[in-house]
Amino acid sequence: MAHSCTSSRTLHADGMAETLAPSAMAGALRSRVVGRAGTLVLIALVFAAMTSACSQSGDEKGKGDDSSRAEDVAAPGADVVTLVPDGTTLEPADWNAGDVAPDAAADSGADGSGTPVPPPATFYKTPWLQWPVPGQVTFLAETKEEVPLLLKLSWNGGQTELQTVPVKLKFDFMGIEMPTFAGWFHEVVLPVPVEVPDFDIEVVNGGFSRHVELPQFIPLSRMILFGDTRTDHAAHQAVADLILAEQSPLVLQTGDLTEGGSILTNWDKFFEIEGPMLWSSFYFPTFGNHEAFGEGYFEALFESGNNHLHERNWWVDLGDLGIINIDQYATNWASAEALAWFEDAATKLADKQWLFVTMHEPFYTFSNHLPWSLGRTHVQPLIEKYGVDLVVSGHNHLYERFEVNGIPYVVTGGGGAPLYGPDEATGGDAEYLVVAASMHHYVRLDFGPNVIHVTVINSDTNEVFEEFDIE
Ligand SMILES: [Fe+2]
Repeated sequence: MAHSCTSSRTLHADGMAETLAPSAMAGALRSRVVGRAGTLVLIALVFAAMTSACSQSGDEKGKGDDSSRAEDVAAPGADVVTLVPDGTTLEPADWNAGDVAPDAAADSGADGSGTPVPPPATFYKTPWLQWPVPGQVTFLAETKEEVPLLLKLSWNGGQTELQTVPVKLKFDFMGIEMPTFAGWFHEVVLPVPVEVPDFDIEVVNGGFSRHVELPQFIPLSRMILFGDTRTDHAAHQAVADLILAEQSPLVLQTGDLTEGGSILTNWDKFFEIEGPMLWSSFYFPTFGNHEAFGEGYFEALFESGNNHLHERNWWVDLGDLGIINIDQYATNWASAEALAWFEDAATKLADKQWLFVTMHEPFYTFSNHLPWSLGRTHVQPLIEKYGVDLVVSGHNHLYERFEVNGIPYVVTGGGGAPLYGPDEATGGDAEYLVVAASMHHYVRLDFGPNVIHVTVINSDTNEVFEEFDIE
């Protein structure tokens, strides 16, 4: 969901300029920050409840398909300005260049545009990009200071610059007010034309830059799968470091990102560990049971489109690859409505060379948590009907691979959570089990013209555990 507001000026190759008005705030960020005592009580209650069991989410607001967000960026104008969000749900910073000490605001920018560079920013959460589809790549960051970020974008044939607006977000859970982030939140859909396949982005007053290639315009190369990164920060860090070294443009996380998604310090630690990966890759997280009660935080931090009920059910077209990600905690997968959404997504992705389905709890597993039987009854028939190439989940903290009716079902939950053992394979499902191992790990997918080569890496030893192909 987009819930920030900026403006920007686009400088075309011919020197003509236009100003892009704010992207619309969509989605709902709710309520007010509670008092200190109330916050502590709330944290205690939420944490106690979170540790009990998988739970239903309290946020089932209908959001529909937000794929039109980029169309909200339009309108004429002249100079770079910082606009106050329209809103009812945000508290904008009241920063402007005139408020800044002369030595801090004197730098007018290398392009001579006269745009003042805001004071240097430091970060609680270093910048990351989300939802890489043409014209809709979202920039996010959390700064310690109440200053905007000056972003410069350039591509073949154009460039633009814009300032984010530092805001304090507001959250609640089932009407109970939740603490907001310690710092100032920044979010903006980058105003890059939909036909632009790649561009450079620089956070001028933040010290970050990267080249962005949208997967819809290039052959797929590599993707990483991993998950269940909560609790053991050292193991999580080790996995994250190895994944960062893979330089994968795409990373999919199977859920349980933190010990408790309602605890803000957990998110701070998560971003401390994964910050470099989040900046260098496009990151697609699945909502796990440990994210429960922190739905507002999860949905503020991560963006998706083509949603059903909320941002945790989404599908995405990544060029050669389509992914359908499903939420298991606030969605009734026995309902005709949910299944119709799934079929509609699968139909829209029917021309993709590869189709993955992802979720947190596995259809097949021999470990601590039982298989997702409801999904087997209602969703698995659609997985087979639409020729899904790979089903990916986590939740049990190990690596398992099953093959069911020709489709691989991978459990990858070894990203840092306490490891579970593979229980003895018994009963009717035993025939589907290919291999299982209790280890910290991640899964690397290398895309060839007609094959995906899968490599499973033990992150404790940095050794290959197994390899197989998907054709
Ligand atoms: Fe889980």
